[in-house]
Amino acid sequence: MSISERVFSTSVLEWFELHGRKDLPWQQEVTPYRVWVSEIMLQQTQVATVIPYYERFMTKYPDVETLASAHQDEVLHYWSGLGYYARARNLHKTAGVICNEHGGQFPQSLDEMMALPGIGRSTAGAILSLSLGQRHPILDGNVKRVLARCFGVEGWPGNGAVGRELWTLAESTTPCSAVAKYNQAMMDLGSMVCTRSRPACSECPLKETCRAHAQGEQERYPGKKPRKALPVKQVELVVAQNSGGLVLLEQRPPSGIWGGLWSLPELEAGQDAAHWCRSVLGETPLDIRSMTMRKHRFTHFELQMSPLQILLGKPGRRVLDGDRWLWYNPLRPEKIGLAAPISKLLDEIRAEEVKK
Ligand code: ADE
Repeated sequence: MSISERVFSTSVLEWFELHGRKDLPWQQEVTPYRVWVSEIMLQQTQVATVIPYYERFMTKYPDVETLASAHQDEVLHYWSGLGYYARARNLHKTAGVICNEHGGQFPQSLDEMMALPGIGRSTAGAILSLSLGQRHPILDGNVKRVLARCFGVEGWPGNGAVGRELWTLAESTTPCSAVAKYNQAMMDLGSMVCTRSRPACSECPLKETCRAHAQGEQERYPGKKPRKALPVKQVELVVAQNSGGLVLLEQRPPSGIWGGLWSLPELEAGQDAAHWCRSVLGETPLDIRSMTMRKHRFTHFELQMSPLQILLGKPGRRVLDGDRWLWYNPLRPEKIGLAAPISKLLDEIRAEEVKK
């Protein structure tokens, strides 16, 4: 271990003594079973949410045998509210494996631990270090953030090379002793100080060496998952507004995007807005103004919407076959199903109307 790695872990451990969490329920009467249940509950769930569930679960299933012999339905009942139920099913299944194949004792090697359902490398490392003091690095979301910022690791951790770089750093910074405290400290630092947004850098024991802090670019780390470039569909939306400020809406067909929701009429490719206005509304527009383009991502394409505000001289209520059309008052909006980006656009128009 180099001097800088030693300084890193010593700073983290000193911070832990003063500020780390030491009275969480799974830090009392520590056993692999109790730590395992807590680590599974804490995947994707905040500590404060987990605590009451954990306490009820432990009262009901105080050891791995009780859990293994319970019915799955009942285990799911004690889990309900925590979400991600595959975790509970794996927990129950793993309890069975431990009782049937490991004589009721948790395996004590990382590889055997990782062979159990629902236990990846970081969770296995957390269980063995927190409950038995073994030296294993961990790399959950909080630790990834601390390391990526401190060492300026670029890129999305889900990318293989970035993930490997972070594991290498986790390995080299983990001290040889006090590993349980150190791993808990890294998780606490990530969730209490090095938070995703607005980290409390002034309280951080690593601020002197942190690259992200030096660059003032904390929020850039860890890198976000790259978004796939999607095919683009461009449409022109008609915001036809009559002299009373009402806006014409059209209901979308029942299937397809925004099926059945209310939206703005769309121009066909190449269709002229003034022509649309004369043929649909029987009026010549007073004015046509382009509004700023906005984007909306669907799973399979990106919709680029360019609204054209068409101002009409008259109340312009000539309309139109039956239930598909609606003159909408942005100042007194009706309770109708509106596509979210359209609702936002109508809010902007409402804001303009209020100013008039
Ligand atoms: N997140 C995952 N494991 C944790 C732990 N032991 N303490 C706090 N947060 C955690």
